[in-house]
Amino acid sequence: MKKILVTGVAGMVGSHLVDELLEQGGYEIIGIDNLCFGRKDNIIHNIGNPFFKFYNVDVLDMETLKILGKDVDIIVHLAAVKKISEKESALPTLQINNKGTENVLELARMWGSKLIFSSTSDVYGMSLDIPFKEDGDLLIGPSMIKRWSYAVSKIFDEQLAYGYFRTYGVPVVILRYFGGFSPRSSFTWSGGHIPIFINAILKDEELVIHGDGTQTRSMAYVSDLVHGTVLAMENDQAVGEIINLGNDEEMSVIDTAYLIHSLAATGRELKVKFVPMEEVFGKYRDITRRIPDLSKARRLLGYSPRVNIREAISSTIAEVRNNLNASTGK
Ligand SMILES: NC(=O)c1ccc[n+]([C@@H]2O[C@H](COP(=O)([O-])OP(=O)(O)OC[C@H]3O[C@@H](n4cnc5c(N)ncnc54)[C@H](O)[C@@H]3O)[C@@H](O)[C@H]2O)c1
Repeated sequence: MKKILVTGVAGMVGSHLVDELLEQGGYEIIGIDNLCFGRKDNIIHNIGNPFFKFYNVDVLDMETLKILGKDVDIIVHLAAVKKISEKESALPTLQINNKGTENVLELARMWGSKLIFSSTSDVYGMSLDIPFKEDGDLLIGPSMIKRWSYAVSKIFDEQLAYGYFRTYGVPVVILRYFGGFSPRSSFTWSGGHIPIFINAILKDEELVIHGDGTQTRSMAYVSDLVHGTVLAMENDQAVGEIINLGNDEEMSVIDTAYLIHSLAATGRELKVKFVPMEEVFGKYRDITRRIPDLSKARRLLGYSPRVNIREAISSTIAEVRNNLNASTGK
């Protein structure tokens, strides 16, 4: 039995990771989350399982972490404040992502745990070196633009993780997740375009596209991110490495909207509104293409994405539709 601590357990990736580990068996899981973004509903079905314990704890609360982290074999650190919109302060992103990661690295050092850190494709920034490779340069925009704070916080965390690895020998693995989604995604800005589009199309609402929609993304179903994470947990070759995880299928934002509309088959017209980039992001330049090079994940972990974008969107539509029908009593 391996003892695992998952931070950010009530979020999208964390809650699906717990489902997977409990299904595989052989893991005793301690999950923590302060529920600032995550939802207890995402994990409620596992509460009462003797191999899963949930604690409403903040990653900034080091005293409690020290107790919960005792004798943990692997920490999967997912708790973070993700992308922020222009209306929000950048401080929670910078402070929680950095202090929280330092706390879990300290914890791993204290109890001799392996640490899996969830970084992001955002760190590649405006790099034009497509597909993005782990040893490529990171091209970040000016500090006056707060949208960059998320990428910068994760780059700092990656360096901190390497610092603990080299200085104290803490076995760390840095996973750079590319966009993932599931029916448990947030339907707000931070959950990415696919959940927002699905929600809007099912509710017959106008779909808002930033720019002309030709920018492309490579989106993965959450099960692929979870699968790669479990492979990294179990693989000693991954220690000290940065590894891209996700799906390398590329699709433009506008084509994704058309695909969702056709798969949802609502019988209603697609309503799209294009909003100029500057209106949404100010001086921030959106990333035109974001595609992972997955060769390292394939070679080191034996990873490859298993769910294509069509299947992923179809099953998300089905579950979101059920949830909407249940909430409206249909
Ligand atoms: N989902 C993606 O597409 C994606 C892509 C790249 C990177 N990531 C990274 O993967 C990780 C998980 O992403 P996700 O999509 O599940 O995000 P999420 O927002 O669904 O989950 C993050 C969880 O962390 C919790 N949290 C935030 N601050 C906390 C704190 N101070 N103490 C305790 N809990 C706290 C939130 O309540 C939430 O449940 C994040 O670190 C994110 O940056 C995700």
